[in-house]
Amino acid sequence: MSGHGTALPMIAHPSGPLQGVAEVPGDKSISHRALILGALSVGETRITGLLEGQDVLDTARAMRAFGAEVTQHGAGEWSVHGVGVGGFAEPDKVIDCGNSGTGVRLIMGAMATTDITATFTGDASLNKRPMGRVTEPLALFGAQAVGRRGGRLPLTLTGAAQPVPVRYSLPMPSAQVKSAVLLAGLNAPGETVVIEAEPTRDHTERMLRGFGATLEVGQAGDGRVITLVGQPELRGQVVAVPRDPSSAAFPVCAALMVPDSDILVPGVSQNPTRNGIFLTLQEMSADLVMENPRTEGGEPVADLRVRFSALRGIEVPPERAASMIDEYPVLAALAATAEGRTVMRGIKELRVKESDRIDAMARGLEACGVRVEETEDSLTVHGMARVPGGASVRTHLDHRIAMSFLCLGLAAKAPIRVDDGSPIATSFPVFERLMAALGASIAREDGTAASG
Ligand code: S3P
Repeated sequence: MSGHGTALPMIAHPSGPLQGVAEVPGDKSISHRALILGALSVGETRITGLLEGQDVLDTARAMRAFGAEVTQHGAGEWSVHGVGVGGFAEPDKVIDCGNSGTGVRLIMGAMATTDITATFTGDASLNKRPMGRVTEPLALFGAQAVGRRGGRLPLTLTGAAQPVPVRYSLPMPSAQVKSAVLLAGLNAPGETVVIEAEPTRDHTERMLRGFGATLEVGQAGDGRVITLVGQPELRGQVVAVPRDPSSAAFPVCAALMVPDSDILVPGVSQNPTRNGIFLTLQEMSADLVMENPRTEGGEPVADLRVRFSALRGIEVPPERAASMIDEYPVLAALAATAEGRTVMRGIKELRVKESDRIDAMARGLEACGVRVEETEDSLTVHGMARVPGGASVRTHLDHRIAMSFLCLGLAAKAPIRVDDGSPIATSFPVFERLMAALGASIAREDGTAASG
C-alpha cells in the first residue's frame, strides 16, 4: 500500500444509474491537525469522525513516536493525551509519513522549535516532493535540515534550541507551508506572522484558536495576515471531524456523469476555503443542491443532493484554485463528459502533488480518447458526448488520479483500467464499498475483496 507494497490494478465498467446515500469519511486535513494539535496540548483530546486512511494513521503513529498517547476507541473515535507545546520527545526511529505531504510538512513544523532531532521519510511519491518550501521558513526559526538534493526526503531535521519568532510571506499558495510555520511558531517566544497573498484552507487557524491559542487574522495590502502569539498552553479539546469535501467530490462527479443518477452525500464541509468545486459544478449547470445547511464541530456543513446533469464546459476562475486544489483531477475527468471546453488556469501547484497531476490527467485523458491541451500552469479539456475509454491509465501512486479515472470509467463507452488503485486507501479507504453500494461497477483485477 501507498507505494511500499504491490500494485493493485482496478477497472471501472460503464454502469447504470448511481442511487442512494454516500457517507464519505472524515476530512483528511482536519484529521491530521486534530492529532497533531492534540499531541501539542495538555490533557485529553477526543476526536470523532477521524479519517482512518493510511495518511492519517501514519500521522497517529508519528505522534506516538514524539511521545503522545494516541488511542483508537471505536470506528473514527480516538483520543490523544498530549505532551504540551515544546514537549515533543526525540523519536528513536525514522518517521515514515507514507504518501502524505500534509503529514510530513505539518509534523516538521510542529517539531522545528523543540531541541530534538528526527529523520523523516515516505514512499516513492512523497520522497520526490519538494520539502525546501517548508525547511526554508523553518530555518528562520533556527531549525536545521539536511536532506537529499533539492531538499527531498529522507531528511533529518534538528529543531531550534532557542527559537526566534518569524514573519513570513508565503511564496506559493500552500496551507501546508502556512501550517508548518504556524505550528513552529507555537514554541517561539513572541509573535509569529504569516502572510498569504491568496487565502488557502484555514483549518489550522480555526483549530489553533479552538485549542486556546491567541491568533488574529487581518487583511493588509499584501494579503491575509495571520498573527500567532507564541508559547500558549494548548488544552485538549473535543473535535468532531466533518465529512471531507475532497472525497465527496468523487461520488458527486460520478453521479453527474452517469445518466439517471440521484444521490445524497450528507454532512459535507462547506468551509469557504474548500468549497470551490461545488461552485464550479453549479456554474457548469450541475443539478447540485446544498440541503440543510448547519454548523457541526465549528465548520459549516450541508447535505449534497446531486442528480445526473447535462453539463457545459466553463473557464474556472483562477482565483478559485486554492479552494479546490485537490479537486482538479476529478473535475478534469468530469469536463471530458461536458459540452464544450473547460479551461483550468493558475494550477501550477498541481505539478507538485502526489503526482504531477496536470501531466497525469492529460496523459490519462488522451489514452481514453479525450482531446486536452496543457501549459506549465493550465489544463484545457475538450468535452465530448461519450468518452471512448477502453484504456489503461497510469496513476503514479496518486489516490486522486486513480479515483478520477475509475469514476470516468462508469460513464465511458468502454471500461477504464488503472494500473494501481492501492493509494486510494490513503484518503478514502471505503471508496470501493461506497461506490458499489451506489451501483457503480468498480472491481479489483487481482480478485481480492475490497477493504474498508
Ligand atoms: C492540505 C493542503 C493542500 C492540499 C492537501 C492538504 C492541508 O496542499 O493539496 O491535500 O491539509 O493543508 P498544499 O498546501 O501543498 O497546497
